[in-house]
Formats: sequence, C-alpha cells, structure tokens
Amino acid sequence: MFFSKIAIVLSVAASAFALPANLEAHKQKRAGVLTVQDYSQFQVSDGVAGNALAEVQAKFPIDENDLANVDPNDLAIIQAARKTAESAETDTGGFNDAIEAASGSAADALSVGKIKNKVLKLKLEVLGLQIDQAINGKDNSAKIKEETTKLNKNVSTDKASAGKTSQSVDFSGDDSP
Ligand SMILES: *[C@@H]1O[C@H](CO)[C@@H](O)[C@H](O)[C@H]1NC(C)=O
Repeated sequence: MFFSKIAIVLSVAASAFALPANLEAHKQKRAGVLTVQDYSQFQVSDGVAGNALAEVQAKFPIDENDLANVDPNDLAIIQAARKTAESAETDTGGFNDAIEAASGSAADALSVGKIKNKVLKLKLEVLGLQIDQAINGKDNSAKIKEETTKLNKNVSTDKASAGKTSQSVDFSGDDSP
C-alpha cells in the first residue's frame, strides 16, 4: 500500500514534467547564448570611445531579429547586467565617485568611460524591455521609446568623442539573475 502510493505520486510527478518538456521540444525554443559574467568581463569602458554600442552587442550576442525566441534565462541575465551597470555608475566606487576623485586627463578618460557605461546600461535596458514584450506579451512600448531616446543620445556622445581614451572602473558585481 505504502509503495503503491509512492508509485502513483512518482508517476503523477513524472507526467507533470513530461508535458512541458514535450511542448518545449515542439516549439523548438532556442537555447540560451549568455553565461553569467563579472562586471569586469561584460563592461565596455576600456579602450577608446566611438564604438560602444557594437561593443555591447558583442558582449550580449542576442539575436535581435528574433526576440520572441530569446531564452528566458538570457533575459534574466540581461536584466541583472543592466542593474549592475547602473550600480557601476552611481554606487560607491562607481564612475561618479571615481570622476569626483580624479582630475585632468584621468577624469576626462573616466567621463568617456561613463558614457560608454551609459550605452551599456541603456542598451541592456531597451533590450530587456523588448524581450520582455516579445516573450511575455507585455506592452513596454512607451518605456522602450523613452529609453531608446536616451540611448541614442549617449551613442551620439560616444561617437562624437571617437578615439578618445576611455577608462573603466574596478567595480565588483556580476550579472547572475
Ligand atoms: C544619457 O543617458 C542618461 C540616462 O542615463 C540621460 O539622462 C541623458 O539624457 C543621456 N544624454 C546624453 C547627452 O548622453
């Protein structure tokens, strides 16, 4: 009696798992393309200005032409990375602190790096909103428009200082969901 109850529980549990697995296979959902990284690995503020947007896209190689099939875990990583990028700007030890403590060419390079970090933060925010809309059916259009305007401004600022030295901050954090 005891064992047969367990058998029933197990077989009910197994079928509960079997159904979503079949649906997944049927939809041919794409596997995730992102892995959890430290901020130091996914930040783009080293090097020079001018190419920030492409650098962000290279670090987060989502298929932007097929947002509806982005893996939900990739969305979670993008959302976590966006938060950490924002912290790297405004929290203790971030760009704002570093710029205030620096002067001359060091401060200039940090300011260039801060704009590149804004491109990182805003691109991840727009991407996250777009994916959330595509896979979860949310209407994020107003926020997407607002944040895209900010993103485009910061991309223009980055392009306008193309070739200038850019300095990152040694900020600890990662993009684990
Ligand atoms: C850059 O992004 C910020 C949001 O982080 C926004 O407030 C600002 O207007 C943008 N502007 C420029 C000129 O880069």
